[in-house]
Amino acid sequence: MTSKASTIWGGRFEGGPSAVMEKINVSIGFDQRLYAQDIAQSKAHCAMLARQGIIAASDAQAILGGLDAILKEIESGRFEFKNAYEDIHMNVETRLSELIGDAAGRLHTARSRNDQVATDFKLWVRDAIDRLLGQIEAFRSVLLTRALEHAETVMPGFTHLQTAQPVTFGHHLMAYVEMLARDAGRFQDARKRLNECPLGSAALAGTSFALDRHFVAQQLGFDRPTANSLDAVSDRDFAIEFLAAGAILAVHMSRLAEELVLWTTPQFGFVRLSDAFSTGSSIMPQKRNPDAAELSRAKAGRVIGDLNALLIVMKGLPLAYSKDMQDDKEPVFEAADTLELVLAAMAGMMSDLTVNKERMKAAAGSGFSTATDLADWLVQKLNMPFRQAHHVTGRIVKLAEEKSCGLEELPLADLQAVEPGITGDVFGVLTVEKSVNSRTSFGGTAPANVRQAVETARRAK
Ligand code: ARG
Repeated sequence: MTSKASTIWGGRFEGGPSAVMEKINVSIGFDQRLYAQDIAQSKAHCAMLARQGIIAASDAQAILGGLDAILKEIESGRFEFKNAYEDIHMNVETRLSELIGDAAGRLHTARSRNDQVATDFKLWVRDAIDRLLGQIEAFRSVLLTRALEHAETVMPGFTHLQTAQPVTFGHHLMAYVEMLARDAGRFQDARKRLNECPLGSAALAGTSFALDRHFVAQQLGFDRPTANSLDAVSDRDFAIEFLAAGAILAVHMSRLAEELVLWTTPQFGFVRLSDAFSTGSSIMPQKRNPDAAELSRAKAGRVIGDLNALLIVMKGLPLAYSKDMQDDKEPVFEAADTLELVLAAMAGMMSDLTVNKERMKAAAGSGFSTATDLADWLVQKLNMPFRQAHHVTGRIVKLAEEKSCGLEELPLADLQAVEPGITGDVFGVLTVEKSVNSRTSFGGTAPANVRQAVETARRAK
Protein backbone atom coordinates (compact mmCIF):
# COMPACT_ATOMS: atom_id res chain seq x y z
CA MET A 1 0.00 0.00 0.00
CA THR A 2 1.50 3.34 -0.99
CA SER A 3 -0.92 5.69 0.76
CA LYS A 4 -0.25 7.01 4.29
CA ALA A 5 -3.87 6.39 5.23
CA SER A 6 -4.83 4.15 8.13
CA THR A 7 -4.77 0.46 7.44
CA ILE A 8 -7.95 0.21 9.49
CA TRP A 9 -10.14 2.56 7.47
CA GLY A 10 -7.78 3.50 4.69
CA GLY A 11 -10.07 2.30 1.89
CA ARG A 12 -11.31 5.74 0.95
CA PHE A 13 -8.42 7.81 2.34
CA GLU A 14 -5.28 8.75 0.47
CA GLY A 15 -3.52 11.15 2.79
CA GLY A 16 -2.59 10.60 6.43
CA PRO A 17 -3.72 12.90 9.24
CA SER A 18 -2.01 16.19 10.00
CA ALA A 19 0.17 16.25 13.10
CA VAL A 20 -2.43 18.32 14.95
CA MET A 21 -5.20 15.95 13.90
CA GLU A 22 -3.24 13.05 15.27
CA LYS A 23 -2.49 14.91 18.47
CA ILE A 24 -6.10 15.83 19.23
CA ASN A 25 -7.44 12.45 18.14
CA VAL A 26 -5.05 10.08 19.83
CA SER A 27 -6.10 8.40 23.06
CA ILE A 28 -3.62 5.55 23.41
CA GLY A 29 -1.66 7.58 25.99
CA PHE A 30 -4.46 7.02 28.46
CA ASP A 31 -6.80 4.35 27.11
CA GLN A 32 -4.00 1.77 27.17
CA ARG A 33 -5.24 1.27 30.73
CA LEU A 34 -8.14 -0.61 29.13
CA TYR A 35 -5.88 -3.27 27.58
CA ALA A 36 -6.96 -6.20 29.77
CA GLN A 37 -10.65 -5.40 29.33
CA ASP A 38 -10.19 -4.91 25.58
CA ILE A 39 -8.53 -8.29 25.17
CA ALA A 40 -11.06 -10.06 27.41
CA GLN A 41 -13.98 -8.75 25.42
CA SER A 42 -12.31 -9.53 22.10
CA LYS A 43 -11.86 -13.10 23.27
CA ALA A 44 -15.51 -13.38 24.31
CA HIS A 45 -16.65 -11.85 21.02
CA CYS A 46 -14.39 -14.17 19.01
CA ALA A 47 -15.58 -17.27 20.87
CA MET A 48 -19.17 -16.26 20.22
CA LEU A 49 -18.55 -15.60 16.50
CA ALA A 50 -17.13 -19.11 16.17
CA ARG A 51 -19.94 -20.74 18.18
CA GLN A 52 -22.47 -19.04 15.93
CA GLY A 53 -20.63 -20.22 12.82
CA ILE A 54 -19.92 -16.63 11.77
CA ILE A 55 -16.16 -17.22 11.64
CA ALA A 56 -14.28 -20.48 11.16
CA ALA A 57 -13.05 -22.36 14.22
CA SER A 58 -9.49 -22.26 12.84
CA ASP A 59 -9.61 -18.47 12.53
CA ALA A 60 -11.00 -18.22 16.05
CA GLN A 61 -8.14 -20.37 17.35
CA ALA A 62 -5.60 -18.11 15.68
CA ILE A 63 -7.30 -14.98 17.02
CA LEU A 64 -7.51 -16.29 20.58
CA GLY A 65 -3.86 -17.36 20.52
CA GLY A 66 -2.81 -13.99 19.13
CA LEU A 67 -4.79 -12.09 21.76
CA ASP A 68 -3.17 -14.12 24.54
CA ALA A 69 0.24 -13.37 23.08
CA ILE A 70 -0.57 -9.65 22.98
CA LEU A 71 -1.70 -9.74 26.60
CA LYS A 72 1.65 -11.25 27.56
CA GLU A 73 3.52 -8.67 25.51
CA ILE A 74 1.69 -5.82 27.23
CA GLU A 75 2.06 -7.23 30.72
CA SER A 76 5.76 -7.83 30.28
CA GLY A 77 6.28 -4.32 28.93
CA ARG A 78 7.31 -5.52 25.47
CA PHE A 79 4.33 -4.10 23.62
CA GLU A 80 4.91 -0.87 21.76
CA PHE A 81 1.85 1.38 21.92
CA LYS A 82 1.75 3.58 18.83
CA ASN A 83 0.06 6.95 18.42
CA ALA A 84 -0.41 6.16 14.75
CA TYR A 85 -2.96 3.52 15.76
CA GLU A 86 -4.87 6.03 17.83
CA ASP A 87 -6.42 3.97 20.58
CA ILE A 88 -6.19 0.69 22.47
CA HIS A 89 -8.61 -1.08 20.15
CA MET A 90 -6.63 -0.37 17.01
CA ASN A 91 -3.28 -0.92 18.67
CA VAL A 92 -4.38 -4.42 19.68
CA GLU A 93 -6.01 -5.18 16.35
CA THR A 94 -3.03 -3.98 14.33
CA ARG A 95 -0.67 -6.06 16.40
CA LEU A 96 -2.99 -9.03 15.99
CA SER A 97 -2.73 -8.80 12.23
CA GLU A 98 1.06 -8.58 12.49
CA LEU A 99 1.02 -11.75 14.55
CA ILE A 100 -1.57 -13.89 12.78
CA GLY A 101 -2.14 -12.24 9.42
CA ASP A 102 -5.49 -12.16 7.62
CA ALA A 103 -7.53 -14.01 10.22
CA ALA A 104 -7.16 -10.92 12.45
CA GLY A 105 -9.44 -9.05 10.09
CA ARG A 106 -12.34 -11.33 11.04
CA LEU A 107 -12.37 -10.32 14.71
CA HIS A 108 -14.10 -7.03 14.05
CA THR A 109 -17.07 -8.75 12.38
CA ALA A 110 -20.35 -7.46 13.84
CA ARG A 111 -18.49 -5.10 16.14
CA SER A 112 -17.64 -1.40 16.17
CA ARG A 113 -15.27 0.54 18.33
CA ASN A 114 -18.39 2.19 19.69
CA ASP A 115 -19.75 -0.91 21.42
CA GLN A 116 -16.20 -2.05 22.04
CA VAL A 117 -15.15 1.03 24.00
CA ALA A 118 -18.39 1.11 25.98
CA THR A 119 -17.79 -2.51 26.98
CA ASP A 120 -14.13 -2.02 27.87
CA PHE A 121 -14.92 1.04 29.91
CA LYS A 122 -17.76 -0.62 31.81
CA LEU A 123 -15.50 -3.54 32.65
CA TRP A 124 -12.83 -1.12 33.87
CA VAL A 125 -15.23 0.90 36.01
CA ARG A 126 -16.64 -2.33 37.45
CA ASP A 127 -13.14 -3.38 38.53
CA ALA A 128 -12.47 0.08 39.95
CA ILE A 129 -15.69 -0.14 41.98
CA ASP A 130 -14.62 -3.52 43.35
CA ARG A 131 -11.20 -2.16 44.33
CA LEU A 132 -12.74 0.88 46.02
CA LEU A 133 -15.27 -1.27 47.87
CA GLY A 134 -12.36 -3.29 49.26
CA GLN A 135 -10.61 -0.13 50.39
CA ILE A 136 -13.75 1.33 51.93
CA GLU A 137 -14.16 -1.89 53.88
CA ALA A 138 -10.54 -1.76 55.06
CA PHE A 139 -10.90 1.86 56.17
CA ARG A 140 -14.18 1.09 57.86
CA SER A 141 -12.55 -1.65 59.90
CA VAL A 142 -9.81 0.76 61.04
CA LEU A 143 -12.51 3.16 62.21
CA LEU A 144 -14.41 0.40 64.01
CA THR A 145 -11.29 -0.66 65.89
CA ARG A 146 -10.53 2.89 66.95
CA ALA A 147 -14.15 3.62 67.83
CA LEU A 148 -14.31 0.63 70.18
CA GLU A 149 -11.00 1.64 71.75
CA HIS A 150 -12.42 5.14 72.35
CA ALA A 151 -15.99 4.26 73.23
CA GLU A 152 -15.56 6.16 76.52
CA THR A 153 -13.13 8.88 75.47
CA VAL A 154 -14.92 12.18 75.98
CA MET A 155 -14.45 15.06 73.57
CA PRO A 156 -16.41 18.21 72.86
CA GLY A 157 -19.13 17.87 70.26
CA PHE A 158 -19.51 20.97 68.13
CA THR A 159 -22.18 22.82 66.26
CA HIS A 160 -21.05 25.93 64.38
CA LEU A 161 -17.60 24.72 65.52
CA GLN A 162 -18.58 26.05 68.95
CA THR A 163 -18.49 23.67 71.90
CA ALA A 164 -22.00 22.25 72.11
CA GLN A 165 -22.26 19.08 74.23
CA PRO A 166 -19.79 16.42 75.30
CA VAL A 167 -19.66 13.41 72.98
CA THR A 168 -17.48 10.33 72.83
CA PHE A 169 -14.65 10.09 70.32
CA GLY A 170 -15.89 6.62 69.42
CA HIS A 171 -19.29 8.05 68.53
CA HIS A 172 -17.63 10.72 66.41
CA LEU A 173 -15.70 8.06 64.47
CA MET A 174 -18.84 5.98 64.05
CA ALA A 175 -20.40 8.93 62.22
CA TYR A 176 -17.83 8.31 59.47
CA VAL A 177 -18.61 4.60 59.52
CA GLU A 178 -22.20 5.56 58.65
CA MET A 179 -20.97 7.75 55.77
CA LEU A 180 -18.77 4.96 54.45
CA ALA A 181 -21.66 2.50 54.55
CA ARG A 182 -23.68 4.86 52.36
CA ASP A 183 -20.68 5.34 50.06
CA ALA A 184 -20.33 1.60 49.66
CA GLY A 185 -24.06 1.34 49.03
CA ARG A 186 -23.87 3.92 46.26
CA PHE A 187 -21.01 2.09 44.54
CA GLN A 188 -22.81 -1.25 44.86
CA ASP A 189 -25.96 0.27 43.46
CA ALA A 190 -24.09 1.83 40.52
CA ARG A 191 -22.41 -1.52 39.88
CA LYS A 192 -25.78 -3.26 39.58
CA ARG A 193 -27.06 -0.77 37.04
CA LEU A 194 -23.77 -0.82 35.12
CA ASN A 195 -23.77 -4.56 34.68
CA GLU A 196 -25.33 -4.87 31.21
CA CYS A 197 -23.15 -5.68 28.22
CA PRO A 198 -23.11 -3.23 25.28
CA LEU A 199 -21.16 -5.54 22.97
CA GLY A 200 -23.16 -6.54 19.91
CA SER A 201 -24.81 -3.14 19.59
CA ALA A 202 -22.18 -2.49 16.91
CA ALA A 203 -21.86 1.09 15.69
CA LEU A 204 -25.33 2.16 16.79
CA ALA A 205 -28.04 0.09 15.12
CA GLY A 206 -27.22 -3.50 15.99
CA THR A 207 -26.08 -5.91 13.33
CA SER A 208 -27.38 -8.31 10.68
CA PHE A 209 -25.23 -11.17 12.04
CA ALA A 210 -26.89 -13.77 14.22
CA LEU A 211 -25.01 -12.95 17.41
CA ASP A 212 -25.51 -14.56 20.78
CA ARG A 213 -25.31 -11.48 22.94
CA HIS A 214 -26.39 -13.37 26.03
CA PHE A 215 -23.39 -15.66 25.71
CA VAL A 216 -20.98 -12.74 25.44
CA ALA A 217 -22.60 -10.96 28.37
CA GLN A 218 -22.30 -14.06 30.50
CA GLN A 219 -18.67 -14.66 29.48
CA LEU A 220 -17.77 -11.18 30.68
CA GLY A 221 -19.65 -11.42 33.95
CA PHE A 222 -22.49 -9.12 32.92
CA ASP A 223 -26.03 -9.86 34.07
CA ARG A 224 -27.51 -9.41 30.59
CA PRO A 225 -26.97 -7.60 27.29
CA THR A 226 -28.11 -3.99 26.97
CA ALA A 227 -31.60 -3.66 25.47
CA ASN A 228 -31.20 -0.74 23.08
CA SER A 229 -28.28 -0.40 20.71
CA LEU A 230 -28.47 3.41 20.49
CA ASP A 231 -28.46 3.74 24.26
CA ALA A 232 -25.74 1.13 24.66
CA VAL A 233 -23.14 3.01 22.63
CA SER A 234 -24.02 6.46 23.92
CA ASP A 235 -24.61 5.74 27.60
CA ARG A 236 -22.01 6.94 30.06
CA ASP A 237 -24.32 7.00 33.09
CA PHE A 238 -22.20 4.28 34.66
CA ALA A 239 -19.13 6.51 34.57
CA ILE A 240 -21.07 9.50 35.85
CA GLU A 241 -22.57 7.46 38.67
CA PHE A 242 -19.11 6.20 39.56
CA LEU A 243 -17.85 9.79 39.69
CA ALA A 244 -20.88 10.98 41.65
CA ALA A 245 -20.44 8.27 44.26
CA GLY A 246 -16.73 9.05 44.23
CA ALA A 247 -17.31 12.77 44.67
CA ILE A 248 -19.50 12.16 47.71
CA LEU A 249 -16.90 9.80 49.15
CA ALA A 250 -14.21 12.42 48.51
CA VAL A 251 -16.32 15.02 50.31
CA HIS A 252 -16.63 12.70 53.31
CA MET A 253 -12.88 12.16 53.33
CA SER A 254 -12.30 15.91 53.12
CA ARG A 255 -14.44 16.47 56.20
CA LEU A 256 -12.50 13.95 58.29
CA ALA A 257 -9.26 15.34 56.85
CA GLU A 258 -10.32 18.83 57.93
CA GLU A 259 -11.03 17.54 61.43
CA LEU A 260 -7.56 16.01 61.56
CA VAL A 261 -6.09 19.34 60.52
CA LEU A 262 -7.99 21.06 63.33
CA TRP A 263 -7.37 18.39 65.97
CA THR A 264 -3.62 18.34 65.36
CA THR A 265 -3.19 22.08 65.93
CA PRO A 266 -1.51 23.03 69.23
CA GLN A 267 -4.73 24.94 70.03
CA PHE A 268 -6.84 21.78 69.91
CA GLY A 269 -4.12 19.23 70.63
CA PHE A 270 -6.62 16.37 70.51
CA VAL A 271 -4.61 13.96 68.39
CA ARG A 272 -1.07 13.45 67.19
CA LEU A 273 -0.34 11.95 63.80
CA SER A 274 2.47 9.42 63.65
CA ASP A 275 5.82 10.46 62.21
CA ALA A 276 4.92 8.36 59.21
CA PHE A 277 2.07 10.75 58.44
CA SER A 278 3.57 14.09 59.45
CA THR A 279 6.00 16.43 57.77
CA GLY A 280 8.35 19.01 59.21
CA SER A 281 9.00 22.58 58.18
CA SER A 282 12.22 23.59 56.47
CA ILE A 283 12.44 26.73 58.63
CA MET A 284 10.40 26.18 61.80
CA PRO A 285 11.84 23.25 63.76
CA GLN A 286 8.81 22.92 66.05
CA LYS A 287 6.33 22.26 63.23
CA ARG A 288 4.56 18.95 62.60
CA ASN A 289 2.39 19.47 59.59
CA PRO A 290 -0.57 17.28 58.65
CA ASP A 291 0.19 17.40 54.91
CA ALA A 292 -1.50 14.11 54.09
CA ALA A 293 -4.71 15.33 55.73
CA GLU A 294 -4.51 18.66 53.93
CA LEU A 295 -3.95 16.96 50.59
CA SER A 296 -6.78 14.51 51.23
CA ARG A 297 -8.95 17.55 51.91
CA ALA A 298 -7.76 19.16 48.70
CA LYS A 299 -8.20 16.10 46.48
CA ALA A 300 -11.97 16.33 46.78
CA GLY A 301 -11.62 19.28 44.42
CA ARG A 302 -10.25 17.04 41.70
CA VAL A 303 -12.87 14.36 42.06
CA ILE A 304 -15.70 16.89 42.07
CA GLY A 305 -14.04 18.45 39.02
CA ASP A 306 -13.92 15.06 37.30
CA LEU A 307 -17.65 14.59 37.86
CA ASN A 308 -18.33 18.05 36.49
CA ALA A 309 -16.09 17.46 33.51
CA LEU A 310 -17.92 14.34 32.41
CA LEU A 311 -21.38 15.77 33.06
CA ILE A 312 -20.45 18.70 30.84
CA VAL A 313 -18.99 16.45 28.13
CA MET A 314 -22.25 14.48 28.01
CA LYS A 315 -24.62 17.41 28.28
CA GLY A 316 -26.45 18.04 25.04
CA LEU A 317 -24.77 15.22 23.06
CA PRO A 318 -27.16 13.90 20.42
CA LEU A 319 -27.54 10.12 20.07
CA ALA A 320 -25.62 8.01 19.50
CA TYR A 321 -21.79 8.00 19.78
CA SER A 322 -19.80 11.22 19.37
CA LYS A 323 -16.05 11.49 19.66
CA ASP A 324 -16.59 13.83 22.60
CA MET A 325 -17.10 10.64 24.55
CA GLN A 326 -13.45 9.69 24.19
CA ASP A 327 -12.93 12.39 26.83
CA ASP A 328 -14.81 10.27 29.36
CA LYS A 329 -11.81 8.24 30.44
CA GLU A 330 -9.31 10.63 31.93
CA PRO A 331 -11.68 12.03 34.56
CA VAL A 332 -12.66 8.51 35.61
CA PHE A 333 -9.05 7.31 35.76
CA GLU A 334 -8.02 10.38 37.71
CA ALA A 335 -10.89 10.06 40.17
CA ALA A 336 -10.25 6.35 40.73
CA ASP A 337 -6.53 6.91 41.33
CA THR A 338 -7.21 9.86 43.60
CA LEU A 339 -9.79 8.03 45.69
CA GLU A 340 -7.52 5.03 46.06
CA LEU A 341 -4.72 7.24 47.33
CA VAL A 342 -6.91 9.28 49.66
CA LEU A 343 -8.51 6.19 51.20
CA ALA A 344 -5.08 4.68 51.79
CA ALA A 345 -3.78 7.90 53.37
CA MET A 346 -6.84 8.36 55.57
CA ALA A 347 -6.75 4.74 56.73
CA GLY A 348 -3.04 5.09 57.50
CA MET A 349 -3.49 8.30 59.48
CA MET A 350 -6.47 7.02 61.41
CA SER A 351 -4.89 3.74 62.39
CA ASP A 352 -1.62 5.35 63.55
CA LEU A 353 -2.78 8.47 65.35
CA THR A 354 -2.56 8.83 69.11
CA VAL A 355 -5.31 10.46 71.10
CA ASN A 356 -4.74 12.97 73.90
CA LYS A 357 -7.63 12.01 76.15
CA GLU A 358 -6.81 14.65 78.80
CA ARG A 359 -6.91 17.48 76.26
CA MET A 360 -10.12 16.16 74.81
CA LYS A 361 -11.74 15.83 78.19
CA ALA A 362 -10.66 19.28 79.36
CA ALA A 363 -12.02 20.79 76.15
CA ALA A 364 -15.22 18.78 76.52
CA GLY A 365 -15.89 20.40 79.88
CA SER A 366 -15.23 23.96 78.77
CA GLY A 367 -17.80 26.31 77.31
CA PHE A 368 -20.56 25.18 79.73
CA SER A 369 -21.01 22.08 77.61
CA THR A 370 -23.27 20.43 80.20
CA ALA A 371 -25.80 23.27 80.23
CA THR A 372 -28.30 21.09 78.37
CA ASP A 373 -27.88 18.43 81.07
CA LEU A 374 -28.76 21.03 83.69
CA ALA A 375 -31.86 22.07 81.74
CA ASP A 376 -32.87 18.41 81.29
CA TRP A 377 -32.45 17.87 85.07
CA LEU A 378 -34.80 20.78 85.78
CA VAL A 379 -37.37 19.24 83.45
CA GLN A 380 -37.01 15.71 84.82
CA LYS A 381 -36.65 16.47 88.54
CA LEU A 382 -38.67 19.69 88.96
CA ASN A 383 -41.18 18.99 86.19
CA MET A 384 -40.36 22.35 84.63
CA PRO A 385 -41.43 23.02 81.02
CA PHE A 386 -38.29 22.80 78.83
CA ARG A 387 -38.51 26.42 77.66
CA GLN A 388 -38.53 27.65 81.26
CA ALA A 389 -35.67 25.27 82.15
CA HIS A 390 -33.71 26.70 79.21
CA HIS A 391 -34.23 30.18 80.58
CA VAL A 392 -33.22 29.25 84.15
CA THR A 393 -30.11 27.49 82.85
CA GLY A 394 -29.21 30.53 80.80
CA ARG A 395 -29.21 32.65 83.95
CA ILE A 396 -27.01 30.10 85.74
CA VAL A 397 -24.56 30.06 82.79
CA LYS A 398 -24.41 33.84 82.97
CA LEU A 399 -23.59 33.61 86.67
CA ALA A 400 -20.80 31.08 86.05
CA GLU A 401 -19.46 33.30 83.28
CA GLU A 402 -19.35 36.28 85.66
CA LYS A 403 -17.51 34.18 88.24
CA SER A 404 -15.23 32.64 85.60
CA CYS A 405 -16.00 29.13 86.76
CA GLY A 406 -17.62 25.98 85.41
CA LEU A 407 -21.26 25.11 86.11
CA GLU A 408 -20.22 22.30 88.43
CA GLU A 409 -18.07 24.75 90.41
CA LEU A 410 -20.92 27.08 91.38
CA PRO A 411 -21.98 26.79 95.04
CA LEU A 412 -25.42 25.26 95.58
CA ALA A 413 -26.57 28.52 97.18
CA ASP A 414 -25.88 30.36 93.91
CA LEU A 415 -27.89 27.83 91.95
CA GLN A 416 -30.74 28.08 94.45
CA ALA A 417 -30.69 31.86 94.24
CA VAL A 418 -31.70 31.44 90.61
CA GLU A 419 -34.02 28.45 91.14
CA PRO A 420 -34.89 27.54 94.74
CA GLY A 421 -36.01 24.00 93.78
CA ILE A 422 -32.46 22.93 92.83
CA THR A 423 -30.86 20.37 95.17
CA GLY A 424 -27.31 19.02 95.52
CA ASP A 425 -28.47 16.13 93.40
CA VAL A 426 -27.91 18.32 90.32
CA PHE A 427 -24.12 18.02 90.54
CA GLY A 428 -24.54 14.41 89.53
CA VAL A 429 -25.39 15.42 85.96
CA LEU A 430 -22.90 18.23 85.44
CA THR A 431 -19.73 16.25 84.69
CA VAL A 432 -18.86 15.35 81.13
CA GLU A 433 -18.83 11.63 81.90
CA LYS A 434 -22.31 11.75 83.39
CA SER A 435 -23.42 13.76 80.42
CA VAL A 436 -22.24 11.27 77.78
CA ASN A 437 -23.34 8.28 79.86
CA SER A 438 -26.86 9.68 79.92
CA ARG A 439 -27.14 9.97 76.12
CA THR A 440 -28.53 6.49 75.67
CA SER A 441 -31.30 7.31 73.21
CA PHE A 442 -31.00 5.19 70.04
CA GLY A 443 -28.14 6.64 68.01
CA GLY A 444 -26.89 8.71 70.97
CA THR A 445 -23.29 9.18 72.10
CA ALA A 446 -23.22 7.03 75.29
CA PRO A 447 -20.28 4.59 75.51
CA ALA A 448 -22.72 1.67 75.71
CA ASN A 449 -24.32 2.82 72.46
CA VAL A 450 -20.92 3.11 70.76
CA ARG A 451 -20.05 -0.47 71.73
CA GLN A 452 -23.40 -1.64 70.45
CA ALA A 453 -22.99 0.33 67.20
CA VAL A 454 -19.56 -1.18 66.58
CA GLU A 455 -20.94 -4.65 67.13
CA THR A 456 -23.89 -4.01 64.80
CA ALA A 457 -21.59 -2.58 62.14
CA ARG A 458 -19.29 -5.59 62.38
CA ARG A 459 -22.21 -7.94 62.02
CA ALA A 460 -23.59 -5.96 59.07
CA LYS A 461 -20.43 -6.76 57.12
N1 ARG B 1 -11.10 5.84 21.19
C1 ARG B 1 -12.51 5.94 20.99
C2 ARG B 1 -13.17 6.36 22.32
O1 ARG B 1 -12.58 6.22 23.31
C3 ARG B 1 -13.07 4.66 20.53
C4 ARG B 1 -14.35 4.79 19.80
C5 ARG B 1 -14.12 5.43 18.49
N2 ARG B 1 -15.29 5.37 17.67
C6 ARG B 1 -15.38 6.05 16.54
N3 ARG B 1 -16.50 5.94 15.91
N4 ARG B 1 -14.44 6.83 16.10
O2 ARG B 1 -14.30 6.82 22.33
